[in-house]
Amino acid sequence: MDFLLTEEQEMIRKMVRDFAENEVAPTAAERDEKGTFDINIFKKMGELGLTGIPWPEEYGGIGADYLSYVIAVEELSRVCASTGVTLSAHLSLASWPIYTYGTEEQKQKYLKPLAQGEMLGAYGLTEPGSGSDAAAMKTTAKKDGDSYILNGSKIFITNGGVADVYVVFALTDPEKKHKGTSAFIIEKDFPGFSIGKYEDKLGIRSSTTTEIIMDNCRVPAENLLGEKGEGFKIAMRTLDGGRNGIAAQAVGIAQGALDAATEYAKERKQFGKPIGAQQGISFKLADMATAVEAARLLTYQAAWRESEGLSYGKESAMSKLFAGDTAMEVTTQAVQVFGGYGYTKEYPVERFMRDAKITQIYEGTNEIQRLVIGKMLLQD
Ligand code: CAA
Repeated sequence: MDFLLTEEQEMIRKMVRDFAENEVAPTAAERDEKGTFDINIFKKMGELGLTGIPWPEEYGGIGADYLSYVIAVEELSRVCASTGVTLSAHLSLASWPIYTYGTEEQKQKYLKPLAQGEMLGAYGLTEPGSGSDAAAMKTTAKKDGDSYILNGSKIFITNGGVADVYVVFALTDPEKKHKGTSAFIIEKDFPGFSIGKYEDKLGIRSSTTTEIIMDNCRVPAENLLGEKGEGFKIAMRTLDGGRNGIAAQAVGIAQGALDAATEYAKERKQFGKPIGAQQGISFKLADMATAVEAARLLTYQAAWRESEGLSYGKESAMSKLFAGDTAMEVTTQAVQVFGGYGYTKEYPVERFMRDAKITQIYEGTNEIQRLVIGKMLLQD
């Protein structure tokens, strides 16, 4: 057993950290305040190869492993969780199913530009009446000659409105419920496809979250992803990996908050000494650091298992559950360490706390993660 990162993983961490600190962090507070998405950051991630970390070079990737990918999401989220989730949704939710289930033509047409950062990806599963109960979706896809006609709407779509390509799930055989679900690759310019409501959110405000609408949206039959009727399995398997991307985001947020709180505890003096010299604060920091490290180990382990071709669904649900709860707890404690200053926008910890909350909710609430873990434990 070896806990040391490889030279390549260390190199990727250093590259992403430099990029995050120099090109993402300086505008993070302003983007959060204004709720603006910056496509140039995504383009630069493309130039650095981050948008295709785990894919082979023939598909525009850099041929690294899933651990390198989660390290990248962690490092971005350490300064800006919005940028972290933009990459995570692009890579885990949109690119992964195309890499895993796509035909050679689909990989050349979509995966390659996605990997090179020339296209941005998104994933559409959730509907107004179908959140945790993903199988209750209502969007339909009817065959019409060489096309499918999709009708319905999806909500809470990360990268909505800025993505070029959407992996969307719809019922091709409604009477078969989840066994009648299929996956489709939809381009933003397909007729009948449009963007609906933009969400105004508590956190991750500089990533977009929108509704997408399919109103007699015509999708070429060759854009069916995987087999007809295989969509629910594709959606679930995609989330298996996506959840670990969110765990990485949560670890990054928590680390960013811990770093800020530790620095502040060294500088801020009360009662004639730095507040970190008081056990009330140093014990708090010790608990925060321990939780962050445990969350990181779970996250890295799940990524390592995926790279090794081992099962990782249960481990990803565990990492997302633990890291999400850790991010919420650690960021809340970081605000506490800063006291009144932590409650203001002068310091980044209030943003970290707002950003942390979503990691307990999206890609399956933490209650759903417990359900997934419980089911897998009992079927082992
Ligand atoms: N891999 C492969 N197949 C799977 C699977 C997995 N991880 N999980 C379930 N399946 C299969 C089952 O084997 C079963 O197949 P058969 O019918 O052939 O036997 C089928 O799927 C149905 O399984 P269940 O009976 O367990 O399904 P369920 O209806 O009880 O639901 C659930 C299971 C885990 C609750 C699921 O609905 C779920 O994950 N809900 C949460 C949805 C979610 O995470 N949404 C987030 C959307 S993305 C997002 O957040 C936005 C963003 O952009 C970041």
